[in-house]
Amino acid sequence: MKLMHVTSPLKGSVNIPGDKSISHRSIMFGAIAEGTTTIHGFLKSADCLSTIGCFRDMGIEIEEDGDTVLVHGKGLNGLSAPDHVLDCGNSGTTTRIISGILAGQTFETTLNGDNSIQKRPMRRVIEPLQEMGADIESVRDNGCAPLKIRPAKLHGTHITTNVASAQVKSAVLLAGLYADSETTLTEPALSRNHTEIMLKAFGADLTPGTEENPTVSIRPGKTLTAREINVPGDISSAAYFIGAGLIVPDSEVLIKNVGINPTRDGILTVFRAMGADITEENVREEAGEKTADLLVRFSNLKGTEIGGSVIPKLIDELPLIAVAATQAEGTTVIKDAAELKVKESDRIELTVKNLKAMGADIEATDDGMIIHGPTPLHHASIDTAKDHRIAMSFAVASLINDDVQPTDIQNSACVSISYPEFFRDLDSLKR
Ligand code: S3P
Repeated sequence: MKLMHVTSPLKGSVNIPGDKSISHRSIMFGAIAEGTTTIHGFLKSADCLSTIGCFRDMGIEIEEDGDTVLVHGKGLNGLSAPDHVLDCGNSGTTTRIISGILAGQTFETTLNGDNSIQKRPMRRVIEPLQEMGADIESVRDNGCAPLKIRPAKLHGTHITTNVASAQVKSAVLLAGLYADSETTLTEPALSRNHTEIMLKAFGADLTPGTEENPTVSIRPGKTLTAREINVPGDISSAAYFIGAGLIVPDSEVLIKNVGINPTRDGILTVFRAMGADITEENVREEAGEKTADLLVRFSNLKGTEIGGSVIPKLIDELPLIAVAATQAEGTTVIKDAAELKVKESDRIELTVKNLKAMGADIEATDDGMIIHGPTPLHHASIDTAKDHRIAMSFAVASLINDDVQPTDIQNSACVSISYPEFFRDLDSLKR
């Protein structure tokens, strides 16, 4: 898709579609709960539809009516054996989290997905689940999908992870529902805690971790009970409009319905430290998650250092933050973010390569990037490697391309992974 720069400020408001992490979990937990879970504001993106497909293949009836979805749960032991390989598409969240549920079933399953999924590291879930007694293997013995999972007796144990990953944590907690005693997990820093909030609300016996003590525990024996869930908007999708509002001169954008759970709001912390003018309005709670409308005004940003425990709170937003940092006065250092290399693409490599092509002063490091700003950006052809977050980050960069040629976002349709209506919503802010 070819995108021209804007000639006037961005103005108006956007309604942010449902949170991807919460949408996935609503289906998964609804499926293993008893009764019908009603989900309002479900994110109908390709990734979440992969999760729906997997549970339909295991005998769960799921009705879709616009962005309302009904999941007719069958309880912890109500899933049935699928008659083919479960297809997780492009979704790492589906592949990793679902493996915790599958480890506790009485039937065998195989999980697979697209080319990108078959390269993503799965040892991080295979190993802790094996520690719990699971029979799970990487079919090609390369630590990636396809994964074969056979029935096994699961035992409660203490897991320590060396990566702050909510997907790993969620897989272990779900396996813990099927274990014979308490399961605890300690992560290096607190990762997003939607699973803890939601499982507790569904009736699980769970003690969440905290910022100071990121250890969570779960005890088996409780049944999960269906619920009504209002999914807040996804801050990772809102991020593109936050970034756009901050870097397009004189913009003022109201971004409605944004989940600002403190384990997800790192982008707000970092942008505010860079001098961003972001106001929270209409602060409320949806599905146990802090939610607000965000009023964002163009700001003169300054460079900052981003690292340590804030990283898991903004990991998916780092390509967009790098784009904004090209417009900040001074140096921005992003470190402790080696995880970016094993996302849907190597996001360090692609962010640096594409921003360099646009004229930015940026270099890759082993665990992040260093950006010197401000620099003007010029048009370029953007290699997205079909990574939705790279495509949307560079659609934002295209807004301030300072020449008359358009920026070409290759394979821009990949935005449907997390935000099918992204280009429509971005257009709605252009005058
Ligand atoms: C997610 C957790 C994060 C995030 C991903 C969604 C989740 O991944 O990057 O987009 O829903 O749990 P990791 O758990 O690998 O950090």
